[in-house]
Amino acid sequence: MHLMAKYTTIDNARVGVLMGSASDWPTMKRASEMLDSFGISHECNALSAHRNADLLREYLADAEKRGIEVFICAAGGAAHLAGVVAAHTEKPVLGCPMQAWSLDGLDSLLSTVQMPKGIPVATFAIGGAGATNAAIFAAQMLANGDPDLSARVTAFRKNQSETVTSLE
Ligand code: RP5
Repeated sequence: MHLMAKYTTIDNARVGVLMGSASDWPTMKRASEMLDSFGISHECNALSAHRNADLLREYLADAEKRGIEVFICAAGGAAHLAGVVAAHTEKPVLGCPMQAWSLDGLDSLLSTVQMPKGIPVATFAIGGAGATNAAIFAAQMLANGDPDLSARVTAFRKNQSETVTSLE
């Protein structure tokens, strides 16, 4: 892990997890843990689209050069982080609406999902379920052309199917 001036980079990271505030981390930790469970190298940073605008742009340019393949972006309120990231990259951007301080996260959901045509953000459920699913979705995308990861995704699905019916 490299602690750059204001953000963290990981050698050979394939996924960049971004959040608008460190206060999103308790939720986005779930995405990180799920990526870990698939053995997907990733880096996590809190960089706000409106409070760290220049640093975010710098990070994105650097991340593209280092080979990040997918961005997972979480934000709450007027949640524009995923849209701003999508404006700066042609890599897929997965948006996670946070259940922030009001409206139960509906504000975040609509802000993330309602991208005008041309710059897509694939948007997931509000809160922890969305964070987890964004990581699984990233794994499924990265599994194209990566047979080892594909086998881990298959094993995950198989195990999930088995455990959901178990009453123990
Ligand atoms: C957004 O505002 C963040 O993504 C977070 O969900 C929310 C609250 O941020 P803090 O006030 O806790 O920094 O920008």
